[in-house]
Amino acid sequence: MLSISALEVAFQETTVLKGLSLSAAAGETVGIIGPNGSGKTTLFNCISGFAAQRSGTISLKDQEIQSLPPHERARKGLGRVFQNFGIFRQMTLLENMLLALESRPGEELSVSPWSSAARRRKEEAMERLREIHLEAKALNKASSLSGGQMRLLEIMRTVAAGAEVFLLDEPTAGVSPRMKDDVTEIIRRLQALKKTVLIIEHDITFIERFCGRIVVLNEGHVVLDDIPERVRADERLKEIYFGQGA
Ligand SMILES: Nc1ncnc2c1ncn2[C@@H]1O[C@H](COP(=O)(O)OP(=O)(O)OP(=O)(O)O)[C@@H](O)[C@H]1O
Ligand SMILES: [Mg+2]
Repeated sequence: MLSISALEVAFQETTVLKGLSLSAAAGETVGIIGPNGSGKTTLFNCISGFAAQRSGTISLKDQEIQSLPPHERARKGLGRVFQNFGIFRQMTLLENMLLALESRPGEELSVSPWSSAARRRKEEAMERLREIHLEAKALNKASSLSGGQMRLLEIMRTVAAGAEVFLLDEPTAGVSPRMKDDVTEIIRRLQALKKTVLIIEHDITFIERFCGRIVVLNEGHVVLDDIPERVRADERLKEIYFGQGA
């Protein structure tokens, strides 16, 4: 589904990703961990088209996408979930969700809000909001949401927009325990829908529940790429996180 080969990204003279290769099959959930500054977010920025690469290829469904602008990558099914970024804060939750539904490839756009297509979209938007327990706030502005609620709204908008590959960058960071359960539920739902999911998380105990594979990044390289049990048991993991001999 997603295949990255020999990716190099540099900011001025600092090379952040140094020939990174990684792939995810359709329906697979891959966890990505690594110390602060190891290049995890840069990797997602590059996949979604928000950071330029120096060399390497990125393929989505066997099609190279590395020279496409971000919105074209999104139309091909790539869902980048930003924290609070993709949300229009001055619009209501319902309007935010409707915009995502309308952006789906092939969606019939009707000028009349009373058309059957528009009615169906509204029902679907409300259903999506119900799934993240925000239906009571449908007519409130998005700016009234907490950080965790915005994150849920953002993931659900990406679902509504029809993405097939999800890039989740620390979806549970700064989220309350109850909302962590909501994030868990959404990830499970993405898996049930056979979506491909890449999750960056610092908490290996949290992601190993979902992931068939965990990739460990360090200084712009893939150090380990294996099933969670073997990653956990590997000495290199400790070295990377706690320094040699720890
Ligand atoms: N736009 C940029 N300009 C210059 N340097 C950048 C830019 N974005 C990232 N970097 C640098 O690239 C390196 C990797 O950053 P990145 O955000 O990818 O790390 P990360 O693995 O996501 O870290 P964290 O776990 O803290 O989120 C860092 O040294 C960072 O300073
Ligand atoms: Mg990061």
